[in-house]
Amino acid sequence: MSAPRPSITAVLPGDDPAAISHAAELLRAGGLVAFPTETVYGLGADALDPIAVRQIFVAKERPVDNPLIVHVADVAAARRLVREFPPLAERAAEALWPGALTLVLPRAAIVPDATTAGQDTVAIRVPAHPVALALLHACQCPLAAPSANRSGRPSPTLASHVSADLDGRIALILDGGPTSLGLESSVLDLCHARPLLLRRGGVTHEQLVALLGPVDCVEAAEGAVLARSPGLRHRHYAPRAQVELVAEGEGEAAAARALAAGERVALICRRVVVSPAIVRRLPETLEGFAQALFATLRALDDEAVERIIVEAVPETGVGAAIMDRLRRAAAG
Ligand code: TXA
Ligand code: MG
Repeated sequence: MSAPRPSITAVLPGDDPAAISHAAELLRAGGLVAFPTETVYGLGADALDPIAVRQIFVAKERPVDNPLIVHVADVAAARRLVREFPPLAERAAEALWPGALTLVLPRAAIVPDATTAGQDTVAIRVPAHPVALALLHACQCPLAAPSANRSGRPSPTLASHVSADLDGRIALILDGGPTSLGLESSVLDLCHARPLLLRRGGVTHEQLVALLGPVDCVEAAEGAVLARSPGLRHRHYAPRAQVELVAEGEGEAAAARALAAGERVALICRRVVVSPAIVRRLPETLEGFAQALFATLRALDDEAVERIIVEAVPETGVGAAIMDRLRRAAAG
């Protein structure tokens, strides 16, 4: 892959109809536009144009074996991208679209290999964000859009995060302010006898089970099943600082050890703590914690912190997705 040619990246307000029209024109001409969704910012291109889609991989420095999520305006547009829309997909879409649920389904021939990384399946969702939906209606094409970060970094929850990672590499950023969920969508594979949750995210496992019956989780899977989630093989969600995950209540001691070792250290937790480390207290609710997490990791990088100690959160509801991201960040 050749280095992307530097250019100037414009930032325009996402609630301005003229900005939406301009963005749609850029996308129809094969350009890249970052836009807000309710989960994180996405980096969009016409999902049916392989040349445009390949530019996403270049701009993000994304491994080419990692397929993209295709965003559509409604269920009818989703149907055109698949060979089959099974009853469970029907039920999930009816209840949870627009929303933070991505469905993996058998792909139709019009979806190019560039978008699915050669897989015979395609990942699709209808985002629940007025700017994303306005853009999808204006450009009249499905938008392939991974998170709009450099590969491996925490996903962007502010337009400024997109600028920090992709400035000069993409045509335009639509600014929609902070994203409300702050974590990516849940990715659910519906191509096999039993639904398989490939990535935990904004829609919880509990919600999916209540709606669809038994749903397997990829953490418990192995071998051939793991191969169905190419994204899991790659480094993810990591700030530049070393992330250390500790149990709730153990943050001060871990921070003290790092300080004694001479490190510039920060502590992220939900409690009031007294510590000479840089302390970032995040909301006690799991929803609030999720919304603030990636922005906090990025802000601590900007403060040149070397080690970020994070106290674990309960693995219920969206807490399971938070812990998944923290474990991956710590592994990075
Ligand atoms: O919330 C989100 O999902 C955001 C916003 C922009 O929609 N997008 C996002 O995309 O997080 P990305 O590319 O960062 O993550 C997509 C995940 C990856 O883990 C990828 O491997 C998986 O979805 N995926 C995409 N297509 C797939 C497919 N056909 N089969 C299995 N997994 C797939
Ligand atoms: Mg991503």
